[in-house]
Amino acid sequence: MTTTPNIERILIEGADHLCLLRFDKPGSRANTLDVATLEELQAHLDAIASDPGIHGLIIASAKPAIFIAGADLALFRKPDAALLETYLELGQRVFNQLAELKIPTIAAIAGACVGGGYELALACDYRIATDEHATRIGLPETTLGIVPGWGGCTRLPRLVGVPTALEVILGGKTYRAHQALRLGLVDQLSCRERLLKAALNVLNGQMDGKRLEKSHPGLFQRPLNKAMATAIGGRTRADVMRRTRGHYPAVLRALEVITEGAGESDPAPSLARERKAIADLAPGPVARNLYHVMTLQENTRRWLRREGEGVTPIREVAVIGAGVMGAGIAQWLSARGLRVTLCDLDNERVGAGMARIFKTYNDAVKGHRLTSMEARDGIDRISPAPGTVPLGRVQLVIEAIVERLGAKEALFADLDRRTPPEALLASNTSALPIHAMAAATNRPSRVIGMHFFNPVARMKLVELVLPDGVEPEARRQALGLLSAIGKLPVVVRDTPGFLVNRVLLPYLLEAARTFDSGIAASVIDETMLDFGMPMGPLRLVDEVGLDVALEVARTLEAAFPGRFAVPPVLPRMVEAGLLGRKAKAGFYTYRNAHPAAANPAAQACAAGGLAHGDAATARLRMLYRMLDEAARCLDEKVVETPEAVDLAMILGAGFPPFRGGLLRYADSIGLEPILHEMEILEIQPGEPLLARAARKRSFYEDDE
Ligand code: NAI
Repeated sequence: MTTTPNIERILIEGADHLCLLRFDKPGSRANTLDVATLEELQAHLDAIASDPGIHGLIIASAKPAIFIAGADLALFRKPDAALLETYLELGQRVFNQLAELKIPTIAAIAGACVGGGYELALACDYRIATDEHATRIGLPETTLGIVPGWGGCTRLPRLVGVPTALEVILGGKTYRAHQALRLGLVDQLSCRERLLKAALNVLNGQMDGKRLEKSHPGLFQRPLNKAMATAIGGRTRADVMRRTRGHYPAVLRALEVITEGAGESDPAPSLARERKAIADLAPGPVARNLYHVMTLQENTRRWLRREGEGVTPIREVAVIGAGVMGAGIAQWLSARGLRVTLCDLDNERVGAGMARIFKTYNDAVKGHRLTSMEARDGIDRISPAPGTVPLGRVQLVIEAIVERLGAKEALFADLDRRTPPEALLASNTSALPIHAMAAATNRPSRVIGMHFFNPVARMKLVELVLPDGVEPEARRQALGLLSAIGKLPVVVRDTPGFLVNRVLLPYLLEAARTFDSGIAASVIDETMLDFGMPMGPLRLVDEVGLDVALEVARTLEAAFPGRFAVPPVLPRMVEAGLLGRKAKAGFYTYRNAHPAAANPAAQACAAGGLAHGDAATARLRMLYRMLDEAARCLDEKVVETPEAVDLAMILGAGFPPFRGGLLRYADSIGLEPILHEMEILEIQPGEPLLARAARKRSFYEDDE
């Protein structure tokens, strides 16, 4: 046995002539393909190629949850063109060497196998993956503003065909093992205990009596049909442009590399196109911003793991209120292995909540995110509980009842009597003071806010509200729970609207005010879609419900007079029953939950006649209202850092990630020009923005 720093080469005992390369980066949870590891791999492959005694190779990992997590992303932080080119060439050369070995090769995948890790697996002849939760497979490069550059755009279409390769690479998703098998990304599944045995069986010809054939360079002897690839590419391009409005250049570039390479029998030109695409994209603003956002998320995850380490895990939770949010939270917790008692006032309401939960589980099974067995187990972990039931064993209660302080205070006083004194009590309120609910109990230091976002199954963010005086242990327990259930928290102060709603609302109110002045809803929404928001602001108000938005605006206006003034169109529409999607009529009319058309009844509630609005001006007004409020939040220490503002607005409000976040976007323009434009638009900036501009400090500079 030869031991090297990152990869062990093992001649497998009892298996004649077979060799295992096992990745095990010392002192790290993950294996990555940095320069040193690639050079080691190259040396091993040289040795294997020149050893006629070796008849087969298995590549595996010694890490519990990761096969190989991909490239060394540090090189992309401030990309140096020459270094990057050398790195890309090295990776391509080593993977080609692996693909061209004369012996059959197998990737035995347990844990995350993404990016460069999966490109390495693609250079093998056969892929077996474990069917466990930790195994994720995919090529997420386009979500980082680059393209797969170690053969992913070149080998994957040949393995699974152009349409599936486009779906995988352009979508940038990572897949569970059973999905990966369905798509052809892997050839076989196994349980973890039998993974190596399964790989040996394949190499020994004990798989359907056939011995594994070398497929490389066979893959390239079957060039894909160029005309077909071009036609599919054209359609896909139109679809991408419609969805992204051209804001994600890497997606278009990956599409080009994949379709251009389709007719070629030699991989070299396509590999060169992959390198050129990365060289062009990596230094650009989109890739830099996406890298920034990924780093924010990674740092939060790392911090969360540290903070939550060693705390007693929470296994037993009660969720009170089985409405939109309660059902969503109960589903999410149960899917991650927690036992949940779901309470509401009566049978009918608990039943409606359970129906929502069934639907979410069903969608997850249809979308191949969960197996039907996992869905069944998840549902079994929920106990529906109408009326008042004993809660003597719960470790945490999450309240998600109506947004009325009186009702919440009464509930917290009752929960205080019915739950063990050490249990943590949390509220999912959107804007109400947590300290008031805490004051209704005899355990104020164990009462916190856990503000999930709607829909819970899609939104990663949770605002963790920690009022003054919360016990450190309660904070750690909450962080431990959020880490265990895979949510990303931003810690916020207990002030009205916390962060996301407080920053988002001035934007929504400005959109409603613009509508009131006579500009069409579609003009207002389109200009923000063009900016990159996933949904226009008036469509969003329709989703939230005009009555709910009005209620939150009034709470915030009471707390911060003058900044959340409600334009008259909103109460008029609420009075007319135009409550949004739930009423099938708001700014738009709805058919089968989809917006059908602009609603003339809404237009009739607006003060102005239909005017020709200047979309660009409307956009700036909406954005600057948000920015001004974010600067105030930072100044008041609602959150501590600009990073927290940006992460929360991206994950909680859909601010476009390719812009790097609201404050990073403001930095990219500069505060001086922004203040100048605000003056022209007659928006009075708050003191925090003015003071920052006077100090000539950008948000991020101030942070450094
Ligand atoms: P919802 O109206 O859909 O559900 C509330 C449920 O609570 C109802 O089923 C009701 O019967 C039940 N309920 C009321 N009083 C109760 C009591 N004393 N005991 C047990 N059950 C009781 O409301 P939704 O939208 O789920 O909101 C719940 C909370 O979550 C609110 O505080 C809201 O501000 C917050 N929230 C809502 C979001 C949304 O998008 N809907 C997003 C984030 C937070």
